[in-house]
Amino acid sequence: MYSSSIFEENLDDFSNQEPQRAPIGIFDSGVGGLTVLRQLYRQLPNESIVYFGDTARLPYGIRSQAEILQFTREILTWLQQQQVKMVIMACNTSSALALETVRQEFTVPILGVILPGARAAVQLGKRIGVIATPATAKSNAYKHAILEINPNVQVWQVGCPEFVPLIEQNRIHDPYTSEVARGYLEPLLEQEIDTLVHGCTHYPLLTPVLRSLLPSQVQLVDPAVHVVAACAQELDLLGLRNMHPPLPTRFAVSGCPQQFSQSGVHWLGHTPLVEQVSFTDIAISQLH
Ligand code: DGL
Repeated sequence: MYSSSIFEENLDDFSNQEPQRAPIGIFDSGVGGLTVLRQLYRQLPNESIVYFGDTARLPYGIRSQAEILQFTREILTWLQQQQVKMVIMACNTSSALALETVRQEFTVPILGVILPGARAAVQLGKRIGVIATPATAKSNAYKHAILEINPNVQVWQVGCPEFVPLIEQNRIHDPYTSEVARGYLEPLLEQEIDTLVHGCTHYPLLTPVLRSLLPSQVQLVDPAVHVVAACAQELDLLGLRNMHPPLPTRFAVSGCPQQFSQSGVHWLGHTPLVEQVSFTDIAISQLH
């Protein structure tokens, strides 16, 4: 029943008596991962979730690969200590720059957003635009993933450095945000794209703004929908789906809990209780 999962060898590491009941860990630099959390609530309502936002160190999109790798290792170490059964990197930047490396280092199954997003994009279009953080765009992760699936499509990527700070500051409906978005979309509209991928988990929060600037025939791809579908599949393959009622979602951040709680209420519809985590004491045991 578990035979085709790439994570099969990791099953032995679950010491929990009832591993199905363990939470899924998800992380992002900030509120972007809430777009993945919303999909988890929709598609996997029985799962308990631990959410981590690395708010003290955002935005990730202008960081180096070495920094992203270090942050990702620290977060995964902490999530493993919380005994999660699976991790979703609800962050494209980490998925682009750190996923392959950390998969070799950690025993917990880890899913990234890029491959599910790329698979969904090639099903929809032939002229594909990707908006992403500068680090994700520069990595060419989407371009490579899309062209590997279908070399006959065309891909254009645009790095959008201003989006994450604007979203984290809750300035989505500010006219300035729309002006910035117009500038980022311009080169993609010149190429007459038929599909646009949200190459950053923060960006689905901008959908109304982007939609107002895009021709109606351009289809939007939100990789969050597809990574959660992939997660459901993996849970089934590993026999890890929770059939019991879930525990309340646990939220943790590296920065100010109140600030996250205030932004979170907007996207979650309730005020989340948020704890603060400091990484200074966490040993990166996998590396030693
Ligand atoms: N939401 C993340 C992503 O998908 C990180 C954005 C950032 O912190 O720059 O890339």
